[in-house]
Amino acid sequence: MAAGMLMPMARFALDPALRAGAESEFLYVCDVDQLTEDPQVFPFNFDQVDAWYESEVSRDVYVYIRDNEVTALSAICTHLGCTVAYDGNDDYPEQFFCPCHFGRFDKDGHNIPGTPPRRPLDAYEVKVEDGKVYLGSIYQRT
Ligand code: FES
Repeated sequence: MAAGMLMPMARFALDPALRAGAESEFLYVCDVDQLTEDPQVFPFNFDQVDAWYESEVSRDVYVYIRDNEVTALSAICTHLGCTVAYDGNDDYPEQFFCPCHFGRFDKDGHNIPGTPPRRPLDAYEVKVEDGKVYLGSIYQRT
């Protein structure tokens, strides 16, 4: 059980793409015409080097249109690193729900008071070119 709790934290410690302000290239994630005002999950992959070990890592990101801007939120819960799901619990529609400790975030990824997460979901820099959406560095929001 302890290993299950520590793995998400270790992932944060080891994964440079998850560190706020980490340098990264922009990665294609989806086309603009796929997006709506509701967050949709898109998988993306990137190469990760941890000392001598190189691997391809998969992540999920929620992308949607908010105030005419493309917004991209990390699917990793800011409590202990489990994966959140938008509309993932019938009791909390239009919220991000984390099944590990029942954490919740509103549609904009802000943590809901009284649930375990203490800060909003992290966000990605976004670049839109020729109708395609690219992700840059991840950063923490307040
Ligand atoms: S890891 Fe999400 S609520 Fe604890």
